[in-house]
Amino acid sequence: MSFPLTRPRRLRIKESTRELVREFRVSKNDLVMPLFVREDIKAKVPIQSMPGIFQFPLKEAVEEARAIEGLGIKAVLLFGIPALKDKKASQAYAGDGIIQQALREIKKAAPGLTLIADTCLCEYTADGQCGIFKNGAVDNDASLELLAKTALSQAEAGADLVAPSAMLDGQVAVLRELLDQEEFFHTGILSYAVKYASAFYGPFREAAGSQDNFKGDRKNHQMDPANLREALREAQADAEEGADLLMVKPAWNNLDVLAALRANFPLPLAAYSVSGEYAMLKLAGQAGYFAEEAAVKELLTSIKRAGADVIITYYAREAVERGWID
Ligand code: PBG
Repeated sequence: MSFPLTRPRRLRIKESTRELVREFRVSKNDLVMPLFVREDIKAKVPIQSMPGIFQFPLKEAVEEARAIEGLGIKAVLLFGIPALKDKKASQAYAGDGIIQQALREIKKAAPGLTLIADTCLCEYTADGQCGIFKNGAVDNDASLELLAKTALSQAEAGADLVAPSAMLDGQVAVLRELLDQEEFFHTGILSYAVKYASAFYGPFREAAGSQDNFKGDRKNHQMDPANLREALREAQADAEEGADLLMVKPAWNNLDVLAALRANFPLPLAAYSVSGEYAMLKLAGQAGYFAEEAAVKELLTSIKRAGADVIITYYAREAVERGWID
C-alpha cells in the first residue's frame, strides 16, 4: 500500500468542499448583543476601552434595539446604569428604574426580540459590590432577597429571561421561587452558573460605570479560574434550582469548561465572550496585527464547537451588519 493511507487534505483543496464538510457554523440566531442603558445622559457615550460600544440614553437604546431586531439578531442582554447608586441598590428594583423603563420601551418597540436582563446589584450599589458588603465579603443571604426583588421587577417590566450574575449561593432558587409565587411562570432564568473571577472583565467596569467606586476584587463570590470540578458543582446546583440555561464566562479561556458542561448537562448552554475578549480583538484588529473579521469568526466558531448554543458577544451587531455572519 502506498503512503500515506489517508489524505485529509483531499477535502481541503477547494472552498466548496471545505464548506460541504464544515462541522460547526455560527449563525446570527446564536448571538446575543449586550446593551448598556444609562439614566443620566442625553446622548450616547463611547466606552473608551471598547471602541464601537456605547452607553445609550433610553431613547437611543430603544432605537438600537430596533436596529438589532431588524438585523435578525434574536436577543439583547440589558444592563442599566442608574443616576443614583446607594447602599441597598434601590434603583435595581425600582419600578421606574432605568432598566425597568428600558425593558418596557424596548418590549413595545421591538416585540420580536428576546429581552434578557442582567440581574445583579453591582451597577446599583454605591460601593460597586454585587450585593450587600459586610466584613470583607458579599453577605450571601442578605443579598439574595434584593436580587429576587430585582428579578421580579425586571419580569414585571417585560424581561423574557432574567440572568443572575452575582455568583451567590442559592440565587437561582430564590429567583425561581419568587417568580413562581408572583405567577411569572414563563419568565426563564439564564444562570451565570460558572462565572470566574476574571481580569477579562476590566473594560466592563467602564461600561457599567463601576470603575471609580469599585475597589478590590470579587474572589469571595466568583469562581477561582483554576477550578474545573467546581464548575460542575456550580452547574449542577443551578440546574437543580431550576435554571433554564447555563452560562460559562468568560468564554475564550474556558472552552474546556464549556465542553465539560456540554458533556454533562442537557440544558442549553450560553457562553459570554466578555469585554476583555472584545477589547483584545478590536484593538489588535484596528492596529492591523491580524484580520479582525477572520479572528472574530474563528473565536465564535471555537466557542460553538466547544459546546455553546448561545453566544453573548459585543461583536453581535457589527458581525451581522458587516456580513461576517449570516
Ligand atoms: C456583573 C457582571 C459583570 C459582567 C457581566 N455582569 C462584571 C463583573 O462580574 O465584575 C462582565 C461582562 C464583561 O466583562 O463583558 N453584573
